[in-house]
Amino acid sequence: MFTFALFNLKGGVGKTASCVNFAYLAAKDGYKTLLWDIDPQGATSFYYKVKPKQKVAMKDLVGKDAELADSIMATEYENLDIIPADITAKAHDVMIDEMQASKKRLATVLKQLKNDYDFVFIDCPPGLSSLAENIFNAADVVLMPIIPTTLSVRTYNMVKDFFKEKNIDNKKMTCFFTMTDLRRTMHNEVMEELYKDKRFFENYIPYLSDVEKMGVHKAPLEEFARSSYAAQCYRDLWEEIKEGVL
Ligand SMILES: Nc1ncnc2c1ncn2[C@@H]1O[C@H](COP(=O)(O)OP(=O)(O)OP(=O)(O)O)[C@@H](O)[C@H]1O
Ligand SMILES: [Mg+2]
Repeated sequence: MFTFALFNLKGGVGKTASCVNFAYLAAKDGYKTLLWDIDPQGATSFYYKVKPKQKVAMKDLVGKDAELADSIMATEYENLDIIPADITAKAHDVMIDEMQASKKRLATVLKQLKNDYDFVFIDCPPGLSSLAENIFNAADVVLMPIIPTTLSVRTYNMVKDFFKEKNIDNKKMTCFFTMTDLRRTMHNEVMEELYKDKRFFENYIPYLSDVEKMGVHKAPLEEFARSSYAAQCYRDLWEEIKEGVL
């Protein structure tokens, strides 16, 4: 089992869009794949049209005696399961308490599934917190989508510092550009500068309206716009990421 976390301290950078598409592509490749929507916004669950089972509480997911299997649901796609987000405020409070209780709780809980899945994709909320620390400890690779602007460079450095401060292996931290617009000088300059850092994948996702349409279709790009440039960009990036980890 190999675990990816789609993370950025910054909100609205394409974590969910990327998570939804990568997980779909992994499953389509024939890998047993699990999506864990750990963001209380529940956007990944929305795209996959799945709501959590009523009888499962947050303690069953991330508590000391959690049983992950009870929370896993099938999506409509072969090889692709999901743990949907619990969007209630109570669940969010329990999650924070449990993440503060142990920085390795997520890693421990995920081990229950080590023989059941080839890939796990965690869709993370923005922010640096005890949840982020848990996610970094649990993930084999943290994938950070980055919009090439000055503020993104700042948050990128803040995440790097967080890895150092928490003593987490920063080789896990990998990045790719999203929502790029090569007509903008700033995007070109930031990309050129950051590409010098070997953490960045070469393929990137431009700003493309087909990505936004995922919300209308409630589906990954491959399902409604397979021949689009956006779908091609996600395929190319997924191939590069996969090559790097397999
Ligand atoms: N490459 C892209 N081109 C155009 N729009 C995009 C692209 N990627 C994402 N979007 C749109 O930008 C918005 C934010 O994307 P997304 O929800 O994936 O970001 P996020 O990082 O998960 O946000 P949050 O921090 O709120 O979880 C969405 O409306 C999405 O459709
Ligand atoms: Mg999101």
